[in-house]
Amino acid sequence: MSEISRSQAHSHRDAGTAPRGPGSPSGPVGPHGAGRGAGGHASGGHGARPRGSTSLAVAELVEAALPLIAQWLPSQRWYAGKGQAITGLRPVNATPLLTGDPAMLHLLLRVEHGGGSDLYQLLLGLRAEAPLGLLPEASLGSLTHGPYDGAALYDAVHDPELTGRLLGHLATADRFGPLAFRRTPGPGLPSDLVGRAGTAEQSNTSVIFGTQFILKLFRRVTPGTNPDLELSLALSRAGSTRIPRVAAWFESRLVGAEPATLGLLQRFLPDAEDGWELALDQVARLKGDPSPGNFAVEAHRLGRATAEVHRVLARALPVARLDREQVGRLATQMAERLDTAAAAVPALRRYRPALHAAFQQLTADHPTGLTVQRIHGDLHLGQAMRTPQGWVLLDFEGEPAKSVAERRQPQPALRDVAAMLRSFDYAAAHLLAGTEPDPELAHLAAGWAARNRTAYCAGYTAAGGTDPAGSPELMRALEIDKAVYEVVYEARHRPGWLPIPLTAIHRLATVS
Ligand SMILES: Nc1ncnc2c1ncn2[C@@H]1O[C@H](COP(=O)(O)OP(=O)(O)O)[C@@H](O)[C@H]1O
Ligand SMILES: [Mg+2]
Repeated sequence: MSEISRSQAHSHRDAGTAPRGPGSPSGPVGPHGAGRGAGGHASGGHGARPRGSTSLAVAELVEAALPLIAQWLPSQRWYAGKGQAITGLRPVNATPLLTGDPAMLHLLLRVEHGGGSDLYQLLLGLRAEAPLGLLPEASLGSLTHGPYDGAALYDAVHDPELTGRLLGHLATADRFGPLAFRRTPGPGLPSDLVGRAGTAEQSNTSVIFGTQFILKLFRRVTPGTNPDLELSLALSRAGSTRIPRVAAWFESRLVGAEPATLGLLQRFLPDAEDGWELALDQVARLKGDPSPGNFAVEAHRLGRATAEVHRVLARALPVARLDREQVGRLATQMAERLDTAAAAVPALRRYRPALHAAFQQLTADHPTGLTVQRIHGDLHLGQAMRTPQGWVLLDFEGEPAKSVAERRQPQPALRDVAAMLRSFDYAAAHLLAGTEPDPELAHLAAGWAARNRTAYCAGYTAAGGTDPAGSPELMRALEIDKAVYEVVYEARHRPGWLPIPLTAIHRLATVS
């Protein structure tokens, strides 16, 4: 790891002349890296300030921090390059958001590894003494040289004072060098709320402010507008109540690329229940509860909510008509994904001919083409929350395995419906996973899934969505495509759950 920091030490000394941006051999401190006095405003603004003593101090700070970052990064849950050795760390932007004690440094860092490189967002806190009660996984260690020699370096999302500062920047729509904080019109944002890092941490990090706002910090960053911001903003601007209203966001300029979305602030839903948890709770009652709840009422409402979201997205964002040839290409893409998956997971192979036939049928069934639009892209029960006002959908980032360009492609709206149908199947099958075969329970679980799938589709149609029953071949192809994705995911991450999508594949392959 010290090799990395040593090579870095050279590269950022050249920071004043090297081109910067993802993929470029840049140093850590851009011309925007000029600092801000403690509690004051950025004096350089918009990156105009030339490198002075402050930016030199930032360069030295980054240099001192890199070895600690290199050790800490691979153990973070959101770090995607697990198992691959890091071959280089190249800071792209380093922006001090606060100096003094405490200090806060915003860092965009390119991480090079065997499989290429990724850009990550880090928010680093510095204090003479680490904050009391700091979680061990939030600590990067103590700096051993540089302008903050001896200071504790840690993940600032766990420091309520520092995340409060971040909210303040969003509230006042500040700019710091390459970073631009943006607000939606509407009521002002309080800047005095304390933030706490969320526990449901997945590929991103969320900070919850009181009971009012949640800030999602994207950890792996790509140039361009994140689809979560793009779609949530479109829905928010259209006045949809089916998503938490967008209050603010922030982004970074990148040299030679589109600005990258870094964070999204939305209303927090304090009374919301997670759809996946609710469904599992209902499914668990199949084991002997004489009065299992009727989740189908909720499934129907969720179908309605999905159709409402689709309608707004179709109005706000482009809609297109795929001609027969393009439908053929859609089917070919699905067939290619199947072949790739079958190469990795042998259990899929015997279903290949039947699944290929289903994809071919898709083209035959749509001789006049197919309407496509922007969709959620990764819909499942865990992306839906039930509030006293009804269902709300979350997380419009799309399927993480796909590139952003792919995720932004208009799709048949029924792709989301098929994905949610798979989720009902998952919730039901969860009851049986890892237990001795129990035909009676399996029958009950299958009945639960079928009832909720039907209710969801009925709700979707009742609220004006395309009736899934009217497009059985499309639905079948979309469900297969999703189940193939699930097979690969489970084989890789949760082999114990592999039977869930494989059972679905078996069913979908044998439908006549
Ligand atoms: N507006 C919100 N109100 C309440 N909880 C939320 C809100 N947004 C997200 N959450 C919680 O955070 C979790 C993760 O959010 P999500 O947007 O799906 O991020 P990720 O990309 O990490 O999956 C959700 O499953 C939910 O429990
Ligand atoms: Mg999510």
